[in-house]
Amino acid sequence: MTKNQKLQAWVKEMAELCTPDQVRWCDGSQKEYDELAALMVKNGTFVRLNDSKRPNSYLCRSNPADVARSEDRTFVCTVNKEDAGPNNNWKDPAEMKQMLRGLFQGCMKGRTMYVIPFSMGPLGSEIAHIGVELSDSPYVVCNMRIMTRMGQAVLDQLGEGDFVPCLHTVGVPLQPGQKDVAWPCNVDNKYIVHFPEEHAIWSYGSGYGGNALLGKKCFALRIASFMARQEGWLAEHMLILGLTNPQGKKIYVAAAFPSACGKTNLAMLTPTIPGWKAECIGDDIAWMKFGADGQLYAINPEAGFFGVAPGTSMSSNPNAMKTLRANSIFTNVAQTPDGDVWWEEMSEELPEELLSWQGEAWTPGSGKKAAHPNARYTTPAAQCPVIDPAWEDPRGVPISAILFGGRRPSVVPLVFESFNWQNGTFLGSVQASETTAANMAAVGVVRRDPMAMLPFCGYNMGDYLAHWLSMPGRAANAKMPKIFYVNWFRKSATGKWLWPGFGENCRVLKWIFERVEGSAQAVETPIGFLPAPGAIDTTGLDVGAEDMRELLSVDVQGWLKEVPDIRKHYEQFGSHLPKALQDEVDALEQRLKKA
Ligand code: OXD
Ligand code: MN
Repeated sequence: MTKNQKLQAWVKEMAELCTPDQVRWCDGSQKEYDELAALMVKNGTFVRLNDSKRPNSYLCRSNPADVARSEDRTFVCTVNKEDAGPNNNWKDPAEMKQMLRGLFQGCMKGRTMYVIPFSMGPLGSEIAHIGVELSDSPYVVCNMRIMTRMGQAVLDQLGEGDFVPCLHTVGVPLQPGQKDVAWPCNVDNKYIVHFPEEHAIWSYGSGYGGNALLGKKCFALRIASFMARQEGWLAEHMLILGLTNPQGKKIYVAAAFPSACGKTNLAMLTPTIPGWKAECIGDDIAWMKFGADGQLYAINPEAGFFGVAPGTSMSSNPNAMKTLRANSIFTNVAQTPDGDVWWEEMSEELPEELLSWQGEAWTPGSGKKAAHPNARYTTPAAQCPVIDPAWEDPRGVPISAILFGGRRPSVVPLVFESFNWQNGTFLGSVQASETTAANMAAVGVVRRDPMAMLPFCGYNMGDYLAHWLSMPGRAANAKMPKIFYVNWFRKSATGKWLWPGFGENCRVLKWIFERVEGSAQAVETPIGFLPAPGAIDTTGLDVGAEDMRELLSVDVQGWLKEVPDIRKHYEQFGSHLPKALQDEVDALEQRLKKA
């Protein structure tokens, strides 16, 4: 329990508003988790998987209308509309609060309100922050226990301190005697609302992922990015990995990629170069603050992985597969006849029969997906075989390099290094991915997603870019990481992948490591520093010299065509776009014209 008066008063006020049948303070124990999981098995929300296949794990099927984050129902309610920026849906905070109060009135009738204290980041870390989620969903409690440090220990750490209040309901009050459904949600009335100025989150109507596990995208990215700007740090949509060379020297790297670019695979990569080691700190979010030595120190604010299951296999990501072998929750995957889980690409051979993510009989010829494309596993980071020994270090790990990138079949080389922090911020601000046949109607459209933060920045993105530019001035002795741009997805004129990706990406990481160390050779080009011929270690790699040359060439005409597109992208930020970034695009154009 807690003596924190603000917390007690808030829980009381919200219980009076939401009128749950009871309020339960979560202690975060295994016993509590097991009890809630058993309750969900009883009421049909969870299926317990075969313990001899996947110990202590559960399958869950959501309502088919509640399967992903709802960006169109996500709001950032700053007092001034302009502060939310073109990147967010906005409503006046007072009006929104009033409307939400109406919606939340009595919303937990017939249910339990769970009080979920959680820490984003190792308990007691100066980089970490505490939140408290009130939710009427036991599914949220169990997921939050895996994804965050959760329970009484957090209240002990909180003491009389401040916390981010996060209110969540599935929005389905129960009348006396009314039977609940397996996945209650209010699909026509979803609201995922942020009040950045008061550091508060209200979420109504969805039980799924980032809409409901409020520590993740809502707090650790949208609210935290707002706090980070005020306080001079960075809250980013980045993986963090440690890289050790054969001599035992280690650096840490953070990387931001838009979705479907292999972020989790890179976070857990198995290097193919003998003697090199990669270890994972996190796969989705990095919080970085300056240490006394002027370096940026990063923590992974999460304690678990909430990963997309389809496409994950022993060949694409064996470390993820080993992580989720037990103690995990699977949402919207398929179920095998022997009580285990399956999803597309998990095995080369298709199972003969399954229950689909909607619980229907499925056979390979049925023409339907067995798992939903956004099916997820929730699994403890501590189970990852390559989890970094420092992943819970409260001081964080020093970041030497930041990577941006996307899916670019043409124009963008395999890797290049920015000239400096401002130029690197420019690269992040224009980072893009080309749409693929698999997920978009129009193939080959370049979508720009600055720092992969477009859906997650809790304020005006123009101001966010200015914040990035201001970072070197936010510490007396700032030693900023080097910034690189990578592209694993380059194709030849005939449409063949030029780079094998996956574990071979360690060859690019090796060059980055050696650039940080000052030992790798580079050539200056109009876009930045590219690896000098031979500087990328290709020993034992099956990529021809001609393909390597293409991967590491600068397509001057292609880049010149990017310039007007970048200018158009910048227009949306209006007067909030920092002048330094306009200067960067002008300077790039000049360098290209001279090339
Ligand atoms: C995620 C996302 O779920 O970026 O991590 O959408
Ligand atoms: Mn993400």
